[in-house]
Amino acid sequence: MKYPKHIAIDGPAASGKSTVAEIVAHQIGYLFFDTGVMYRAVTLASLQRLNGVNDEKAVSDLAEAIDIDVRPPSVQDERKYDVLVDGVDVTWDIRKPEVDANVSRVSAYAGVRKAMTAQQRKIGERGQVVMVGRDIGTVVLPDAELKVFLDASVEERARRRYDEVQHRNQPEPYEQILQAMKKRDEIDSTRDLAPLCPADDAHILNTEGMTIQQVVDAILAFLR
Ligand code: DC
Repeated sequence: MKYPKHIAIDGPAASGKSTVAEIVAHQIGYLFFDTGVMYRAVTLASLQRLNGVNDEKAVSDLAEAIDIDVRPPSVQDERKYDVLVDGVDVTWDIRKPEVDANVSRVSAYAGVRKAMTAQQRKIGERGQVVMVGRDIGTVVLPDAELKVFLDASVEERARRRYDEVQHRNQPEPYEQILQAMKKRDEIDSTRDLAPLCPADDAHILNTEGMTIQQVVDAILAFLR
């Protein structure tokens, strides 16, 4: 079967995008690329090197300067990939609550988006990629032949994230996760640049109550 050159999957935090996209990519022999890790990597580097994310110019300069590398996993600890910043493995550090709390701010900076979008398009040029994020179908790969927007209520997404962090032994109270997610949804959807929203030609899939396999099957059905 001939598959589209690019598959764009967008949606809010914990909508199941990465899990589902990784399975779909594996099944059709495509590269899976999660663009959220790049914004997370810039956020972590800013927290470590700039003592915060308030200085837009400094954060944008850092986004241009750092080397973010995403590679196949070198360690078997449930990671989907290795994320390296200037050669240092930050795969789990970019999932910490302080990164969650600051990443929406960082990803609203024009200079940061410009640097990340350019790198993501470069990865997309090669084709055969399932790319995941907030603005893949609208901005990064607007010509993608298949676009899917995954959604679910914020309560369900917070429950999924709660289960995930429990499983990873980094427990956080449900209520705290829910409030943080609401805040991130609000910033991601209302920012001026590339806000979270479905492309006009995206298939919108509400995953509320669906299993991972059901969502995968629905995307494979779009492919056919
Ligand atoms: O998918 P995620 O939760 O790992 O993404 C982290 C943050 O990065 C998210 O709150 C918004 C930002 N992001 C973005 O602005 N554009 C993308 N294409 C991907 C992520």
